[in-house]
Amino acid sequence: MSKEKVFAVAGKGGTGKTTLTALMLRYLVETYNGKSILAVDADANANLNEALGLELEETISQIMDEAKDARAIPAGVSKDQYIELRANQAIVESDNIDLLVMGNPKGPGCYCFPNELMRNFIQKLRTNYDYVAVDNEAGMEHLSRKTIDNVDYLLITSDATARGVRSAGRVYDIVKSVKIDARKIFLVVNRTDNNGLESLKGEIEKTGLELIGGLPNDERVYEYDLKGRPLFDLPQDSRSYLAAVEIGRKLGL
Ligand SMILES: Nc1ncnc2c1ncn2[C@@H]1O[C@H](COP(=O)(O)OP(=O)(O)O)[C@@H](O)[C@H]1O
Ligand SMILES: [Mg+2]
Repeated sequence: MSKEKVFAVAGKGGTGKTTLTALMLRYLVETYNGKSILAVDADANANLNEALGLELEETISQIMDEAKDARAIPAGVSKDQYIELRANQAIVESDNIDLLVMGNPKGPGCYCFPNELMRNFIQKLRTNYDYVAVDNEAGMEHLSRKTIDNVDYLLITSDATARGVRSAGRVYDIVKSVKIDARKIFLVVNRTDNNGLESLKGEIEKTGLELIGGLPNDERVYEYDLKGRPLFDLPQDSRSYLAAVEIGRKLGL
């Protein structure tokens, strides 16, 4: 059994995965001062770093790409060793959170991650942390290929419409069919209005997903995103942050 607690966020593009991941990370930082936290940006279109206020350095994809050229690898070092060394260097370190950015594995040159290698690397890496948060891409490639497995909580995000909830239901179907290794799976409805979730209750029931909470529509979240400001700078009493705190508590994180 792994001791680190892992949560992953999945869902259609634009439904608030990165927002939820960043707000939950802030909850962890503020609640467990001094605990070690790893954030993994597993979205090919990486932008979690911005929400966290961290500089993006290198991505795993770039390193894999670089290692395709045998001349890049120093003599006496195996390719696997070299990738592991470089991947460790690519971790962005900050006071509270370390960030690993997977990047786009189908980027220029078109290739795929050697699965085994990445899986082993992440498996080893995560044991150094108390908490691991994974912001996924809509396709859930890393979850379905099990680059990241043994997840405690998988949170599926949806926008606050009937169609959005049905779409989250389809994500849930995929999660079940590819047998993603998550201990518990919940729905988070994002951008709820003042009427809350009452009107979506029936639709949510049909998906079979258990609702853990909602994030209210929060103009400041959108505004900060536009300006590239980290969500860690949101006022402490922001509606969206308070809602993330509630979700964190309900999960027992
Ligand atoms: N609760 C919210 N209130 C206001 N704007 C939001 C909220 N959640 C997300 N947004 C905005 O919606 C857009 C998509 O959110 P994002 O978290 O990037 O989604 P994803 O990571 O799923 O693609 C961003 O511009 C973000 O600022
Ligand atoms: Mg995102």
